[in-house]
Amino acid sequence: MNILVLNGPNLNLLGKREPEIYGTATLESILADLTEYANSQNALLLHFQSNAEHELVERIQSILLESSSNGKPVDGIIINPAAFTHTSVAIRDALLAVAVPFIEVHLSNVHKREAFRQHSYFSDIADGVVVGLGEQGYRFALEALLHKLKLQQS
Ligand code: DQA
Repeated sequence: MNILVLNGPNLNLLGKREPEIYGTATLESILADLTEYANSQNALLLHFQSNAEHELVERIQSILLESSSNGKPVDGIIINPAAFTHTSVAIRDALLAVAVPFIEVHLSNVHKREAFRQHSYFSDIADGVVVGLGEQGYRFALEALLHKLKLQQS
């Protein structure tokens, strides 16, 4: 099982960026934890972070371009679109195009923050949404996604 973790703009600064909101864990440490858990479940963790909308769209599109007779190279996606959550019809459309199950993650509780953060272009098409649980949210999303994919396979 291949899981793609996608992170949007400024998430490369985790650990340094507004730690009172986003916590002190770095992206590297979050990914190390996810990779360890994925390996323990016989899954492969892939990761892509970008500050550019078109690069995220192209990484999602590549799932279709790489797909072979053996199926898609990515079975599930965990995405924190960051600021693009609130703006990006393009990333939404790319996810709809590839039709891979995905879970949306936000470190902070966006519903407790500014009004503009309370609308997401992803939540109504996501398989699940994890909000406000900090770095643990990624881990919960991975556990839930693998569980769902395993149920689908059996
Ligand atoms: C975020 C919330 C977004 O509103 C913000 O733009 C981010 C991070 C989160 O993880 O809490 O960059 O997605």
